[in-house]
Amino acid sequence: MATQTITQTEIAPSVSISAQSLPERPLPESVAKVEQVKEETKEQPAEPGKEKPKVRRVIDEEGGTTTATYPHYLPVWNHGEEYPPWEPFTHTEHGKDADPSFKDLLIDGAKIQHLTPTTGSEVTGVQLSRLSEAGKDQLALLVAQRKVVAFRDQDLADLSIQEALDFGGYFGRHHVHPTSGNPEGYPEIHLVYRNGSSSEFESFLANRNSSVAWHSDVTYEEQPPGTTFLVILDTPEVGGDTAFVNHVEAYNRLSPAIKERLHGLTAVHSGFEQAEFSRSRGGVVRREPVKNSHPLVRTHPATGEKALFVNGGFTRSIDGLKKEESEYLLKFLLDHIGRGIDYQARVRWAPKTVVVWDNRVTSHSAIVDWVTGERRHLARITPQAERPYETPYVAETK
Ligand code: SIN
Repeated sequence: MATQTITQTEIAPSVSISAQSLPERPLPESVAKVEQVKEETKEQPAEPGKEKPKVRRVIDEEGGTTTATYPHYLPVWNHGEEYPPWEPFTHTEHGKDADPSFKDLLIDGAKIQHLTPTTGSEVTGVQLSRLSEAGKDQLALLVAQRKVVAFRDQDLADLSIQEALDFGGYFGRHHVHPTSGNPEGYPEIHLVYRNGSSSEFESFLANRNSSVAWHSDVTYEEQPPGTTFLVILDTPEVGGDTAFVNHVEAYNRLSPAIKERLHGLTAVHSGFEQAEFSRSRGGVVRREPVKNSHPLVRTHPATGEKALFVNGGFTRSIDGLKKEESEYLLKFLLDHIGRGIDYQARVRWAPKTVVVWDNRVTSHSAIVDWVTGERRHLARITPQAERPYETPYVAETK
């Protein structure tokens, strides 16, 4: 089968904490923050006759104290959290009609450097949290054009979690991940957390040759995410990069005959395997899983570009094809996306970096390659966007 189940970041990770393996740093402020968070989010007593829901907290597994730089962002899984199915909502695409000169985003002193000709940029001299509405609109457009943009020296992690959410909420309705850990009391934040111990790596690679697991986030939703933010909290000094692949370029590389054939086809994206994986490990499932069919070729509402909309994490089959046909075609498309290093970019994390990508036109993979015991901890803000749609195939002119 061409598809794979995402188990590394999309699913509640296996966190085997070994606080002893972490460098010792006196962080009284962090400890104070943990105490404050614990106080603010004290568990309520169980209702009479009802068992108290289980709550798993990484801070407890770390022995009640931690060297994490942002301890209030440590993951919590509350088995009492349950949500009804999502209702459709009307998404406003802020990148559409944004000023393409980017004058409110790339202000005086800002520098933009492209990582590769087609994919990825790095920006310095811009503070995302202080952008005006026009600046945020231009951010959505820039990210749609470049697919992924790394912003250095950001203060988003230093604001309150609510302020970070208020910023991200401009771009769409916050997604609540069905299975991942979140900061206590903030289900809209998806956390990626690894302590980096060698036993964690050994078990991770026990049954696979590489950590690369290309996926776009939660594409099984009827309205999958668009402009998406990943905020670094702790990072290994070297390693733990994130790689991105440009699905517009992947579409552009296909021959006209294949492009034309793909138009009109839809594929099934499923969240069932992710939910099952979490359940099988005693994890949470906050919302019952769904499947949705989306066009194989999707049009971006701001750029008008067409992109292949399949990913190894969640696309399971192509509607209307026989099993073998579906598997072969999907395998071809996923191989094509996965090996296109000439339309991929790799972002190296540094403290205070925020990476913004357009989840409609990319897939990504964390790279799990460090064995130093350093913690890798990130917070994702995941605004949902429009229901994917396609526009007709346009024959290319020579
Ligand atoms: C994600 O899959 O959203 C996170 C990627 C990463 O951990 O680098």
